[in-house]
Amino acid sequence: MQEILDAIQSGASGEDLAALPIPQSYRAAHVLRDDVAMFEGVASEDKDPRKSIRIGDVPTPELAPDEVYLAVMASAINFNTVWTSIFEPLPTFGFLDRLAREGKWGARHAQPFHAIGSDASGVVLQVGSAVRNWKPGDRVTVHCNHVDDQDPSAHDDSMHASNQRIWGFETNFGGLADLSIVKANQLMPKPAHLTWEEAACNALCNSTAYRMIVSRSAAGMKQGDAVLIWGATGGIGGYAVQYVLNGGGTPVGVVSSPERAELLKAMGCEHVIDRKAAGYKFWSDEHTQDEKEWRRLGKDIRALIGRDPEIVFEHPGRSTMGASVFVAARGGTVVTCAATSGYMIEYDNRHLWMKLKRIVSSHFANYREAWDANRLICEGKVQPLLSRVYPLTDTGEAAGVVHRNETEGKVGVLCLAPEEGLGIDDPELRAKVGEDKITRFRDKS
Ligand SMILES: NC(=O)c1ccc[n+]([C@@H]2O[C@H](COP(=O)([O-])OP(=O)(O)OC[C@H]3O[C@@H](n4cnc5c(N)ncnc54)[C@H](OP(=O)(O)O)[C@@H]3O)[C@@H](O)[C@H]2O)c1
Repeated sequence: MQEILDAIQSGASGEDLAALPIPQSYRAAHVLRDDVAMFEGVASEDKDPRKSIRIGDVPTPELAPDEVYLAVMASAINFNTVWTSIFEPLPTFGFLDRLAREGKWGARHAQPFHAIGSDASGVVLQVGSAVRNWKPGDRVTVHCNHVDDQDPSAHDDSMHASNQRIWGFETNFGGLADLSIVKANQLMPKPAHLTWEEAACNALCNSTAYRMIVSRSAAGMKQGDAVLIWGATGGIGGYAVQYVLNGGGTPVGVVSSPERAELLKAMGCEHVIDRKAAGYKFWSDEHTQDEKEWRRLGKDIRALIGRDPEIVFEHPGRSTMGASVFVAARGGTVVTCAATSGYMIEYDNRHLWMKLKRIVSSHFANYREAWDANRLICEGKVQPLLSRVYPLTDTGEAAGVVHRNETEGKVGVLCLAPEEGLGIDDPELRAKVGEDKITRFRDKS
């Protein structure tokens, strides 16, 4: 890989890169099939990704005709990295075994290891025989929607495809590595004004927030809508805030510390609720919700914006869904993509039907949505949310930081990139967008 990195850093041509041999094995962050029972009996919050995520060589898979070999310069931690590393709610090896049943190319994915990671920026090294739009030397980012485009179910909204998967979570050979295999229809241009690590941190969360807020596939926000955003300085929440502001809406951001409240205000989100300071207790015990507390949140929102939010951006799940359904405006939409605190959800259906609210599900984004969301990053209209950066060797630690909700925005990981700050191709655009905006989430501590 050193030869490949040297070539990339010296500006080798695509032809020269394509002529370099792909090594037979490469360094990857991975979990092991033999380890899936390692946390039995341990509480979720005490499961330590440093114990399960290993860094070491894995064998390089053969390239399918519709794939490229990507030299990964940087990647990022997502919450699915956490799920894989704590083997919850299920070990991910089941996904790989299912994919293996799809034929020769799928079979490559069932291995004793799962090389993880659903974000990347890097350089295309070689392309499969069916790849038309990309070539060696292209500097790219990767979105994680992995679909079989020969399946008819993929040809309306590819997120509806019957074998839609998340790359690096439901497939092997993901982005937290020096090399990866990626389908050509996952590739997008790298934002030229960003570093490798800034470019790598966006695609998963940015595309998810775009579909949830902007796209007609989910909430389809219109100008003037008020949007309650849980975890508004988190991975998906931080992009959601930007989409609401860009689209002429009014975000009401919920966070859990004064520092996060300040960060939101600096982003231009005027209305902020510190859920910790407010001390909401939506559940009075494990089995009982407290409607008085939902009402208190609703009153707090009205005190800020004078009305109920047309959209609630929901992902904490069990702990907040009852409140989210309650506070959404009459005729409003709760858009949900996750359930971090528990997926067995309970809400009072009377508040939903009597006030004609709807709950809309959303999951990642199709290629078109991911492409449009990436274009906004490329144009400097949506900013990366990179807070901290770790070397690949510390992927377990990086995943632990996200697991424990210890930092804002996105946690980046350097793969082949030997240091931070490399990869900027358009310094003029960077200056025009503004260093302060691009690095607003950087942890200054
Ligand atoms: N379906 C998809 O395509 C998709 C895509 C991306 C992410 N996800 C899922 O979405 C969830 C969030 O992802 P993320 O990347 O934004 O994670 P993140 O960076 O950890 O941010 C989540 C934020 O939510 C808030 N939060 C966590 N637990 C909460 C609770 N019980 N009540 C209220 N707020 C809570 C926290 O903010 P405060 O403490 O500041 O309030 C936290 O920072 C994860 O479950 C992830 O797997 C799904």
